[in-house]
Amino acid sequence: VKGSNHNFALYPFCPTGDPEGRIPYMRDSDVISVYRLQTPVWEFKYGDVLGKLHIMHDAVGFSSAETGTNYTMEWYELFQLGNCTFPHIRPEVYAPFWCNQGAACFFEGIDDLHWSQNGTLEKVGEITGTQFNDMAQWVQEDNQTGIYYETWTVRSEPSPNATVWFESYDCSQFVHRTYRKLAELGAKLSSRTQTNYTKIYLYSGEPTYLGNDSAIFGQPALKNLAMDIHLALSLLEAYEKVVLDKSFYLYYNFEYWHLPMKPPYVQITYEEVPLP
Ligand SMILES: *[C@@H]1O[C@H](CO)[C@@H](O)[C@H](O)[C@H]1NC(C)=O
Ligand SMILES: *[C@@H]1O[C@H](CO)[C@@H](O)[C@H](O)[C@H]1NC(C)=O
Ligand SMILES: *[C@@H]1O[C@H](CO)[C@@H](O)[C@H](O)[C@H]1NC(C)=O
Ligand SMILES: *[C@@H]1O[C@H](CO)[C@@H](O)[C@H](O)[C@H]1NC(C)=O
Ligand SMILES: *[C@@H]1O[C@H](CO)[C@@H](O)[C@H](O)[C@H]1NC(C)=O
Ligand SMILES: *[C@@H]1O[C@H](CO)[C@@H](O)[C@H](O)[C@H]1NC(C)=O
Ligand SMILES: *[C@@H]1O[C@H](CO)[C@@H](O)[C@H](O)[C@H]1NC(C)=O
Repeated sequence: VKGSNHNFALYPFCPTGDPEGRIPYMRDSDVISVYRLQTPVWEFKYGDVLGKLHIMHDAVGFSSAETGTNYTMEWYELFQLGNCTFPHIRPEVYAPFWCNQGAACFFEGIDDLHWSQNGTLEKVGEITGTQFNDMAQWVQEDNQTGIYYETWTVRSEPSPNATVWFESYDCSQFVHRTYRKLAELGAKLSSRTQTNYTKIYLYSGEPTYLGNDSAIFGQPALKNLAMDIHLALSLLEAYEKVVLDKSFYLYYNFEYWHLPMKPPYVQITYEEVPLP
């Protein structure tokens, strides 16, 4: 299951990566190939149903010309995607437990079959060892700054110039940040095919700030709100809230927001984000 450990909550985070998250040093004379990797999410559990829906997982691959060693770099939730999209309730604790923590995982090997058979494995460029090392340093910094996982992108409407209330923060965003960093370091990246990525949109009017965990769940006066939020905490109930009650409670970066939902409520798209 190398390269697909995001599928299993039972598996530890990044099992084959360096325990300290270290990335090997490359000589400047080396030529490192860069690969775009994409595969359907949950394919092991649900076949390629989610692949047909174009819910994809993205990663970046590297291969050293000097050593012949290749590597996979991906960013994913520390727990299962489902758990990180909808929180679950620990009966003994008042505030719901959100496991929306994400982090970067760098490990040796590219599982060609896994990525190419139902997804994408495409070389998109070459970089020098120095560019690779500079990128590696940036990955360490990036890994310390963005630590929450967010599936939803919240917009005011589907039109292109809609207001974006909340941007998602997930594996494909990490891949885009990596490509932008590589471009900034002077890399030339190109793909022969359209580079599409999954986006999950919620549509809402202007969000209202509700407070953080302790502010909401620590005060008796806000008990109704706390109960409302508990209610919205499952896929079906979330759907009912979104479509029937036209409201959604978003947890973003450890804070709660109320979204006055509006049609078309939820959309899953697979849209092009060109390489930088
Ligand atoms: C990123 O952070 C996680 C969690 O702190 C850690 O396990 C992982 O090794 C780090 N990855 C890299 C590439 O530094
Ligand atoms: C994820 O959610 C399932 C079902 O709610 C639960 O059984 C499982 O323990 C959760 N996994 C983690 C890592 O919290
Ligand atoms: C990565 O390395 C493995 C083992 O050497 C090899 O089978 C595979 O083809 C390589 N993949 C890429 C994309 O370089
Ligand atoms: C590709 O999809 C097919 C059909 O769902 C599945 O049987 C196969 O295991 C998948 N291949 C890989 C490498 O995941
Ligand atoms: C974009 O915004 C402008 C100004 O707010 C508006 O007039 C225009 O209709 C919008 N375009 C689309 C495609 O919604
Ligand atoms: C939560 O919000 C309260 C009230 O606004 C504030 O005093 C507290 O510092 C916040 N806690 C955290 C962990 O941000
Ligand atoms: C990729 O994205 C473009 C533009 O966003 C879209 O027109 C195209 O249909 C998408 N391709 C697939 C396979 O969904």
